Formats: sequence, structure tokens, C-alpha cells
Amino acid sequence: MNKLLRHFSYSDWQELAKGIKLPAMFVDLDQFEANVLALKKISDSTQKKLRLATKSLRVPYLIHHALKIGSSTYQGLMCFSVDEALALFGEGHKDLLVAYPTSSLDDLKKVLQIQTAGGRCVLAFDHSCHFSWAANAWSKISSSKLDICLDCDASLKIFGLHLGVRRSSILSAADFSKRLEQLSDYPNLKLTGLLHYDAQIAGLPDRADEFILIQKIKEWIRKISILSVKKERLQFQKILQDKSLTVEFINGAGTGSIDSGVHDPLSEVTAGSGLLHSHLFDKYSNCHTFAAQFFLLPITRFPSEQMVLCQSGGFISSGETDKNKSPEIHLPKNLKVISSENFGEVQTPFINNSEQKFNLGDPVICRPAKAGEVMERFNEVILVRAGKIIGQAPTYRGLGFNFF
Ligand SMILES: Cc1ncc(COP(=O)(O)O)c(C=O)c1O
Repeated sequence: MNKLLRHFSYSDWQELAKGIKLPAMFVDLDQFEANVLALKKISDSTQKKLRLATKSLRVPYLIHHALKIGSSTYQGLMCFSVDEALALFGEGHKDLLVAYPTSSLDDLKKVLQIQTAGGRCVLAFDHSCHFSWAANAWSKISSSKLDICLDCDASLKIFGLHLGVRRSSILSAADFSKRLEQLSDYPNLKLTGLLHYDAQIAGLPDRADEFILIQKIKEWIRKISILSVKKERLQFQKILQDKSLTVEFINGAGTGSIDSGVHDPLSEVTAGSGLLHSHLFDKYSNCHTFAAQFFLLPITRFPSEQMVLCQSGGFISSGETDKNKSPEIHLPKNLKVISSENFGEVQTPFINNSEQKFNLGDPVICRPAKAGEVMERFNEVILVRAGKIIGQAPTYRGLGFNFF
């Protein structure tokens, strides 16, 4: 393979960034494509389709490119809002699933717009209040059926704990049965699929902590969760069979759980983050991808002999606020963040413990904790192939999109 950005030396980066206004975001297309194919291979091993989580890319060109490179396996998009789905429909994508519920009539009108123009936009719901609201609101704007899927909780419930995310009210097979019965009261809602996202596996960097005991506990959570989600998926399948219901898809997993998810009774898995492989994925024992995304900050000040300071940098990722959510310095290796300041809102100081001398404007190469969110801070990504810049692609931000 050509020289990849992740193997670049500091002087290679200096050369590459010459003449580029920093801060800037770089994407290595060779590595991106290798990541697309690595996840495709895992999905293909058990003939699963792969739905692309667009929130983890937020660059329409990269979304198109992943579907092209991974074609036949990569099918459909998992969007995070109806506005996003409509914008991506405008980019030519027809198979859209919005995995997070809406309560907006305006969104239903946009779903209808997509449907009328020949696309499909499935909405995820889980509560009976969603059904009554959606059925009523949809009946006022359309006599067709609204495609929905049921989002079921996949967390590990053990020792009175809820390990995983809190989102769905469908917490058990019994809840699932009940929701199906409630849903049958709303003939204009068509059940097309199920969502069962195992965040406690997919979002568990089990190599992140120095303490071996914590690692062992995480490994154990991963192992037990893999068994528990499989059991639940089988239960859901059986309930559907018993009620003579068929669905078009059962979707589960994410980049961090794709390798176990493909062995479960799912018709499709989801992945997005792995394509750019932000630094959280370095901390997974089951990771199959490598870093394809780097942002460069320019050195603008020298607060002391042993320090450099960069413009910008505070791209802290969402979720539980621990140090893993901060960006990481990729190069030069001898720079360290000051823990009391961390990556700052408009500038970031670094301690330089080496003899290396820096000039004004030199880059510091960093990686984000999560891949998609940080794209909201850049207008475009700089595309690199074979170690050379070959172009740019606008991010959602660059296109003026603002989705929630
Ligand atoms: C419903 C759902 N599926 C899958 C994923 C995994 O996405 P990724 O592979 O980008 O981490 C997420 C991430 O939060 C999610 O909410």
C-alpha cells in the first residue's frame, strides 16, 4: 500500500501541510477505503448487509465513497435526524433510516416529501405515545402508511444495573410483545424493522484503562453482553414468528461490536466510526480498522522555552466526560497537554519536553476521540491519496447544514 498518513513522519506532515491554512482536517483515502473493505469483509463473512452510520462521517463525499467502495454489502444509511435524511436524499440516497425518534410534524412532512419523490425514510419509535402521535399526525397529511421500526433496548441488566444507553422503553421481550399489540391499533403505521443497538459492547473501549482489573471487568461485560444481546435477538425473532409478523430488517451492532453482531440473528449491522477510526478505536481489543482522520493545529505562540501554543483544538467529544473524550496528540510525540488546561476553546498550550525546536505556523497533528462530531468544526476535509493532497470535500458545516 502507498504511504499512509498514519505512517507519516513529522517532516512528511510539514511538507504535506505547506501552504495549507491551518487548522485543517485531513482524511487519508487509502486508509479510509481499507477500513471500508475491512468492515465489509466482516459483514460478508455471514452475509450481513452493512448500514452506514452517517453521523460518524458528516461528509457527503465520504458517505458516497464508502457506499461505492463497499457496494453490495453497504446498503442504506442510518441518519440521526429527518433533516439530515432529506439532505442526503437530495444527494441521491434513497434508503434512509432515522434511528432516533422525532416529535415534529415538520419532520413527518419531510418524510412524506421523500416518500412522494420515490425514496424511503423509516422512523424509529419505541413508546405507545410515539404511535398515537405519529399515526394521528400522519393521517392528517397522508393516506399512505408511515414506515416505522421499533427501537429496542439492548443494554445488559445485571445486579440491578443498566449497562448500556438509556433510550428505548422496550426493555424486555415482554415489552416488545406489548408494543406489537399496541402498534396493531394503528393501521397507518407499518412495522418494517427492529433496531437493537448494543452500546455497552460497541461503545466499550476495553483497552482504555491502565488498571488490569478495570480491563478484566470490561472484558467480562463484553462477553456477558454478547450472550445477552444474542438471546434477546432470538427472542424478538421468535415473538415475530409467533405473531406471524415479518419485518424487512433487524439492525444491530456498531463498529465496536460488528465482529460479534454478524454472528447474531440480525439482517444488517451498522458501522460508521470505524471508517475514519478516531482514537477511541485504538482502545478496543477487537478493532479491525486504522486511523484515517487527522486534524492539524498551527503553532501561534511560545509561552515559555519549554512550551508551544496552538490555535484552537478543544474538540472534546460527547458522552461521559473523561479524558478519553479529548483529542490526542499524534505528532510530534514529545508534546504533552497541560492537564489543568487540556485542549482549549480557542488555543491549546503544549509542553515540549524535548530539544526539538518549532517555528511559528508549524503543525501539531492530532486525532479526535469520535469521528463525526469534529467535522462540525471544519468546512471541508482535505483528501489525501498516496500521500499527496488530491482535493477537498465539504463537510455538513461547509454545506451550511446544521442537524441535531
Ligand atoms: C443506533 C446506532 N447504531 C449504531 C451505532 C454505531 O455507530 P458507529 O459505528 O459509527 O460507532 C450507533 C452509535 O451511536 C447508534 O446510535
